[in-house]
Amino acid sequence: MPDRDQVPEVASPAKPVANASHQWPPQPDILGTRVKRLDGPLKTQGKAKYAYDIIRPGMLYGRILRSPHAHARVVSIDLSDVQKAPGVRAALAIIEPGKNPKFPGDKVLYQGDEVAAIAAATEEQAGDALRLIKVEYEVLPHLASIEQAMKPFAPVVFEGGNLKRGNVEEEGDLAAGFTAAALVVEATYSTQVQTHVCLEPHGCVCEWEGDKLTAWVSTQAVHGSREGFAQALGIPQTSVRVITEYMGGGFGSKFGPDLQGIVCAKLAKLANAPVKLMLDRKEEHLATGNRPSAAAKIKAGVAADGTLTAFDAETWGTGGAGAGSGFPLPYIYVFPHRRRHHTDVYINAGEQRAMRAPGHPQGCFITEVLMDEIADKLRMDPVEFRMKNLPPEAPNAMWRQYFPRAAEKFGWGRRHPSGDATPGPVKRGYGCAANRWGGGGRGSKAHCEIYPDGGVLMRCGTQDIGTGTRTLVAMVTAETFGLPLDAVNVEVGDSNHPFSGGSGGSTTAASVTPAIRVTADKALAALAAKVAPTLGVDAASIVASKGKIYAKDNPSKSLGWKEACRTLGTEPVSVDGEWEQGLSSSGSSGVQMAEVEVDIETGVTKVKRVTCVQDCGLILDPLTAESQVYGGIIMGIGFAMFENRILDRNTARMVNPNMEWYLLPGPSDIPQIEIVLVNQPDRGVIGLGEPPTVSTAAAVANAVANATGVRIRNLPITPDKILNALALEKSGGTL
Ligand code: MOS
Repeated sequence: MPDRDQVPEVASPAKPVANASHQWPPQPDILGTRVKRLDGPLKTQGKAKYAYDIIRPGMLYGRILRSPHAHARVVSIDLSDVQKAPGVRAALAIIEPGKNPKFPGDKVLYQGDEVAAIAAATEEQAGDALRLIKVEYEVLPHLASIEQAMKPFAPVVFEGGNLKRGNVEEEGDLAAGFTAAALVVEATYSTQVQTHVCLEPHGCVCEWEGDKLTAWVSTQAVHGSREGFAQALGIPQTSVRVITEYMGGGFGSKFGPDLQGIVCAKLAKLANAPVKLMLDRKEEHLATGNRPSAAAKIKAGVAADGTLTAFDAETWGTGGAGAGSGFPLPYIYVFPHRRRHHTDVYINAGEQRAMRAPGHPQGCFITEVLMDEIADKLRMDPVEFRMKNLPPEAPNAMWRQYFPRAAEKFGWGRRHPSGDATPGPVKRGYGCAANRWGGGGRGSKAHCEIYPDGGVLMRCGTQDIGTGTRTLVAMVTAETFGLPLDAVNVEVGDSNHPFSGGSGGSTTAASVTPAIRVTADKALAALAAKVAPTLGVDAASIVASKGKIYAKDNPSKSLGWKEACRTLGTEPVSVDGEWEQGLSSSGSSGVQMAEVEVDIETGVTKVKRVTCVQDCGLILDPLTAESQVYGGIIMGIGFAMFENRILDRNTARMVNPNMEWYLLPGPSDIPQIEIVLVNQPDRGVIGLGEPPTVSTAAAVANAVANATGVRIRNLPITPDKILNALALEKSGGTL
């Protein structure tokens, strides 16, 4: 089965084309300043309406009945009792006789797979009524872990087999690479399954008016969701409107209406009433995607001078029931001779989805920990060793500058050799790791109106998933018209607005802001054409700045913004524009360094400090950009130390489907974070949502090894693993 919902990195040039017809202003008033999110006050006051907050007249509450079994055949579903239950207004089987909409056949393939749904007048009635749906299951053999799936004679649970071998990726001459090696390191690394844990769960409110559907959806893609509803329901896209005014996080898991969105629309149709269907935390963990696990058995060779020569890896991972587990490997560093063979392993668990830099944190952890092991064995400084093996410098590959820069800021020179020799149980260590990402832009469209009373409206069908997109749209609009931020109105988050792609792959800023700049430029030109006769100047010479419209070469010929707009008479300026090459590009790089303290009596690790040097092209709002880095690093600390989807090895049911035992970083786990954002004005805008989360776990893991002298090769780094490794070290060592 192909991977679903994977968002590719966008490949576009690392530098914008020269001579573009639109430019960013060389001396901006607003762009580049620290502007707070314009909707911050509404959010902190609870006035911002998320999908969960939408209440429609006569609205019902939908709930989904999910399989308690990891693998079963649904023999029958009897809805007759539930249809008579108090408050119940609609009921439907999701697996209709013999058919699962997601998988071939009539089986459920994991705990939490959707079986049936109902809508009732209250949430309590809906919850109670679920128990009256009678489902007969024929329980089938299941696979609860990679180990079970890979065992010889394991039951074949998935059509075509439990394992899917990929092609061998090979470059150079591996045998020659190992011949040239003075040292060969062999080790196995792995990362766990991490779930998205969006603060706002998945779900929507659906309301029909005749054959037209309006859906308030928590989604990263209003237009993608419109298409998803239309396809699944067999209705034209013109009959669907998707609204996402505010959004509480998606991280790659919310690109469409999802099955629960389609079910919600069907329930609303059946009941002839609006329906709200939002998932609870358990459903979130089980059925809305995850970062697949990754493992690699590696043999790597290095020459005596520290030059890497060879890399040979057998890799595998699970994306759950029939979904892939790919990740880039080796990551960033140059191994001239290399081979890699990947196997996807299917188990009876919820399927993977794109998650913040899909594949990269896994590939980064595996490669960067290997790099550290080699450096330690060579007795070489880890930064010096990395510098020897980086690819050549390029606009999208700036690590040769960032490692020394981060080292200076962080105080890397104070690093001791691995194994803190100071007395006492608390050991201190430093670690580092690098990241890369795409983040280029494409095809956003926008619509702009300037009214005779001076009002400005900018519309774009993008969505602000919490990153500050709405604020960036306002900043670019206001900048272009020379107006203050509060003089422009911005509308986003509605599929009736001009098309914009999904907010994924860190593509939003690089897609949307050029479209806004182009559209505002065009609107200003249209206004200038109207104003020119009044000013008695050539329209092409007119500029807008600091609330005035004037001729560039003759500033005394000027009108205030409102006066200028009055020349429009009764007809507003109304123009459309779209993304063009020249204001954005693709490819970012970054380096992170972490300091940890490990108590070797308890195994408890505390991340004290993370320093990050990161670029993302032209920085439009340093404040929201830094927010992305904070969020990425905090998420990376979760991946490094806490988060873990644990399945019961006998039942394949998740034992921690909540926020109590699925551990997340809390405020006391968050270190001091120092951010150096490298501004690259000549590259245009590049996205930043994903790269900062890539290298945190690797840097933390390397810092733990530097502190303790023992190596933890699988995430998360929990106290028990550290204590076990220390015990093992006493009886022979892990290094
Ligand atoms: Mo992202 S994982 O492309 O939302």
